[in-house]
Amino acid sequence: MAMNSYPVASGLILGIETSCDETAVAVVKDGATILSSVINSQQVHAEFGGVVPELAGREHERRILHVVKQAMSEAGLDMHKPKLEAIAVTMGPGLAGALMVGVAAAKGLSLAWDVPLVGVNHLEGHLFAVRLEKDPVTYPAVMLLVSGGHTMLVLVEKPGRYKVIGQSLDDAAGEAFDKVARFLGLSYPGGPEIEREAEFGDPTAVRFPRALRDGSFNFSFSGLKTAVVSFASKHPDVEVADIAASFQEAVAEILVEKTLNAASEFGAKCVALAGGVGANTRLRTLLAERGHELDLGVCIPSRMNCTDNGAMIAAAGAWRLENFGPSELSIAAYPSLRLEECI
Ligand code: KG4
Ligand code: ZN
Repeated sequence: MAMNSYPVASGLILGIETSCDETAVAVVKDGATILSSVINSQQVHAEFGGVVPELAGREHERRILHVVKQAMSEAGLDMHKPKLEAIAVTMGPGLAGALMVGVAAAKGLSLAWDVPLVGVNHLEGHLFAVRLEKDPVTYPAVMLLVSGGHTMLVLVEKPGRYKVIGQSLDDAAGEAFDKVARFLGLSYPGGPEIEREAEFGDPTAVRFPRALRDGSFNFSFSGLKTAVVSFASKHPDVEVADIAASFQEAVAEILVEKTLNAASEFGAKCVALAGGVGANTRLRTLLAERGHELDLGVCIPSRMNCTDNGAMIAAAGAWRLENFGPSELSIAAYPSLRLEECI
């Protein structure tokens, strides 16, 4: 039984996500129960140290229908007569050529199967990942959305009511992980690599700066990145593990500190995590510990639901379908779509 206290479509939704370098498709029931979730991460970008947009689009094109078939089969659905209520697809933000593959595939399947289409904002999708958990978020909530492209503190009064109360003024948190990893000679994506190195390091080895402790809810990571690069260049003797652990600690601390300050300022009942950087163990532990100390609800999705996936798109789509109806078949890819455009 789904634990949603807000109206969502009760049937099966196919969620398609291709905004960056994950070709991901899922089938979700009641907007909350995952029947299948297939995430195919593209490896071609590793040698370039970052996502190459042209390659991402081509890889999605090659894989998308295989991933759809696998997700349908794992959910026990027939590709010829699928019992789906809708197909939800990421419209943006993201890489144009990557988004277009998912949107075109979703439109084709919608026509072929005569199933309604629902366009979903990728950022709203990340915020809906918490609905896939056993103990869902309680509202109002302050959600920390940290991914490769975004770092935002969002006050969520209820689904669909979002206020961005702070964001990064320069690099996104995930971007900082990726850039620092690259500098330290680690591969892409950098977040999991830094986390692996940090396991063997001392987080107190180097005191890197915590920027913008100015009472605002904005973040800045480019100074931290420069500080790491400068320190590592001047101290080749210091272990990479210690630098990685100290950098990770600086990021986790500032993210958690501002999230909890925002929760107190805006009277939130709960804090929640979303986005790829939310898979970071140190960040998860610190947010849970400090949030519980303040008697706040803490909702941390499984790692798989933090990084890009189709289930979060299906969950957001179930809510959108019920409240706003299906989208037109003329929807397109919107690479710069903003969270504030979700209404
Ligand atoms: O949400 P996501 O999968 O894609 C975007 O929408 O950007 O986030 C990807 C970002 C990458 O920058 C990656 O390095 C970071 O999330 N990331 C992590 C971890 N896993 C992924 N950062 C820190 N620790 C992790 N375990
Ligand atoms: Zn994402």
